[in-house]
Amino acid sequence: RQAKKVIGVQDDLKLTVNAIKVLEARYLLKDENGNVIETPRQMFERTARYLALVDIFYEDDIYDKEGKQKERKIDVEEKPEFLSIWEFNMLKRAFTYFSKEGYMKVDFSYVLDSLKSKWDKIERVKNKFAEVMLHRKYVPNSPTLMNANTKLGQLSACFVLPVPDSIEGIFNAVKYAAMIHKSGGGTGFSFSRLRPKGDIVASTMGVASGPLSFMRVFDVATDVIKQGGKRRGANMGVLSVHHPDILEFITSKDSENKVLSNFNISVAVTDEFMDALLRDDYYPLRNPRNGEEVKRIKARQVWDLIITQAWKTGDPGVIFIDEVNRKHPVKHLGEIESTNPCGEQPLLPYESCNLGSINLSLFVENGKIKWDDLRDTVHTAVHFMDNVIDANNYPLPQVAEMTRRSRKIGLGVMGWAEMLIKLGIPYDSEEAVELAEKVMKFINEESHRASMKLAEKRGVFPAWEGSEWWKKGMKIRNATTTTIAPTGTISIIAGTSSSIEPLFAIAFIRRVLDGQELLEVNPLFEEIMKREGLYSEELMHKVAETGSVQHIDDVPENIKRLFRTAHDIDPVWHVRMQAAFQKYVDNAVSKTVNLRHDASISDVEDTYILAWKLKCKGITIYRDGSKNVQVIYKGTKT
Ligand code: CDP
Repeated sequence: RQAKKVIGVQDDLKLTVNAIKVLEARYLLKDENGNVIETPRQMFERTARYLALVDIFYEDDIYDKEGKQKERKIDVEEKPEFLSIWEFNMLKRAFTYFSKEGYMKVDFSYVLDSLKSKWDKIERVKNKFAEVMLHRKYVPNSPTLMNANTKLGQLSACFVLPVPDSIEGIFNAVKYAAMIHKSGGGTGFSFSRLRPKGDIVASTMGVASGPLSFMRVFDVATDVIKQGGKRRGANMGVLSVHHPDILEFITSKDSENKVLSNFNISVAVTDEFMDALLRDDYYPLRNPRNGEEVKRIKARQVWDLIITQAWKTGDPGVIFIDEVNRKHPVKHLGEIESTNPCGEQPLLPYESCNLGSINLSLFVENGKIKWDDLRDTVHTAVHFMDNVIDANNYPLPQVAEMTRRSRKIGLGVMGWAEMLIKLGIPYDSEEAVELAEKVMKFINEESHRASMKLAEKRGVFPAWEGSEWWKKGMKIRNATTTTIAPTGTISIIAGTSSSIEPLFAIAFIRRVLDGQELLEVNPLFEEIMKREGLYSEELMHKVAETGSVQHIDDVPENIKRLFRTAHDIDPVWHVRMQAAFQKYVDNAVSKTVNLRHDASISDVEDTYILAWKLKCKGITIYRDGSKNVQVIYKGTKT
């Protein structure tokens, strides 16, 4: 899997070929002619240094935790030589905020002088941050790696924007989303506040066109922006199950014309709805403009449509919105209506969140989990991510304000499937589910501990009073600390399995641009088969035909048991695994329950109901081959 030499990029970290390709295309800095001007090591060091600089603000002689609203001078024009222009601007930006809020005892020039005199300390923090990234024990979300120490400086993956029921408000949201996509972030929206199709528009005496028609505007805008951005813009569209246009919403992606192709859609399902469903009863649809009940409809009718559409196309997913709000630690700031694009991060309107993930596959040695190392990595990650909040160049002032009030961060994991394999535990087993709880409980508790330690020095998050933490008398720096992201790209950079997902294929053929075909085998499988003297190219090609080893006689039973793919694993285990992690995650879990092509509509229903019963915050399924365009094909990848 190692890239010995890839043209244009010097690999100084022994990364995989795919990691190098991804980094070269979108992460490593380039000059005006598009030539790569840094190595992977330099990328991580640039990121580590940028975030370490923030620590200067928390030195005792500089930082005023009590925040007494003192105005401080920032009129320093000269950039010191040891800082890059983007580092200088970042520090200025952070200082402006800190001083406006009264957190500074000194002027900006003093901060710059201190940076020089206390450089050893900054350097130590930088090394700590760099160490975990260089070993890929911890990798921050893509925008942090892409944009640290650049003009853009936008470091977060997740945003939620409000969509108010007015033309001006809607088109502001379109504009804000475009600005966020440009910087590599993804946006989630609830369209539940928009009056339904056919409703009155007083100012023009006309009729409203409804949420679906406006969603198309967001979709087209996303398409246009992605040409220039670093990655494809992604959106989440949420509609309340009580909205009068809910049936149209549920079927909105079932079209030949690829409508809403830049959206994942989810129905926000309430307890009221689920109760009606279980009683086989009717429930109300309400016009959000005035709260009036428009009509009552059989819950079963809506549910069947959700399930059938999910079976056909993968959309919609479901968000159990009341469960999300029950667990929300800053209820006093408002109610959550939406998540980010992949569902793992519920956020208030204008909130953003930076994510990062620990590579669990690296925390196994001689069949044992390295708990101490894991603890240290969690603490470093929390420190790093808290700094991201201060260093971030927010795309909108409202986002800056909301994000700094709750200071949410989302530490997650990747390489879970590989950790299990290294421990010899099958993914679909009681033992694995128990271990999932144990590992995530540990990470969650340590991340809280780390955040509390930060609070001692840096103070609690500004909206702490009135929060659930405040009620428990616990002083913490971040309203939330954990989130399980899909780690779509950073798991490639780290060279491990994504998120908490099982392996997708044990071997597959990757089609490369020049028509060549490359065989790729999971390195753990390759290692075990070689150790057993069972490895052959021919056998691997056979595995690559379907990606699964379950039907291959030459693979011993015990190895088969360990190497079950996403499609070999019964959906019940997918959901149970998601629920096990959710139990110890402050935010939510992004998980796709992969179903085989021949799965039935009732399999989908069972999956959604089980997720609800096990207190997941949401659920998404994907039935193999159910969409024309599938992101990753079993057996072959391009
Ligand atoms: O691996 P990486 O950090 O790049 O991202 P991920 O864990 O796959 O996705 C985390 C979040 O990033 C998603 O839930 C989206 O909010 C955002 N994202 C996006 O906006 N656009 C993409 N093309 C991929 C991810």
